Amino acid sequence: MTYELPKLEYPYTSLEPFMDSKTVEIHYSKHHQAYVNKLNETLQDYPDLQEKKVEDLLKNLKEIPEEIRQSIINFGGGHFNHSFFWQILKKDTKFSGKISKAIEKKFGSYEKFKENFTKSALGLFGSGWTWLVLNKNKELEIIQTKNQDSPISQGMKPLITIDVWEHAYYLVKV
Ligand SMILES: [Fe+2]
Repeated sequence: MTYELPKLEYPYTSLEPFMDSKTVEIHYSKHHQAYVNKLNETLQDYPDLQEKKVEDLLKNLKEIPEEIRQSIINFGGGHFNHSFFWQILKKDTKFSGKISKAIEKKFGSYEKFKENFTKSALGLFGSGWTWLVLNKNKELEIIQTKNQDSPISQGMKPLITIDVWEHAYYLVKV
């Protein structure tokens, strides 16, 4: 089995004007694809691990042979994090239901949450991600991860994320 780029469920233009279509296209078809390719290369000689879901690799890093562990963190994380990211992006939407109530309870208001989340993303030095997660105590928490480290490797459940790698917002020629 080889890992594949998941289908993007919307056209590249659908996040404009917040994310321009060219940036989304390159981010998805070049950057995310590169993580998938490198994950497949990493697991070339590990047929047993190829059978596992990328989530399972990242949740059980101790079981990954040491010589490929960092590559799984980088490329498996890159694949998982981006797959999650594409799924949660939507414009003209409003929080509602349980998550909305939980955010209000934890942060005071949605606006306050947005402020904290933005501050966390802007405060990230270098490349990484900002997340709203359900932590190990089943509480909402805003966290940052470096590079392609994934919260699922720390036993956390991701709920919302923002990619703070430069490739997510700065259009470069490829
Ligand atoms: Fe990215």
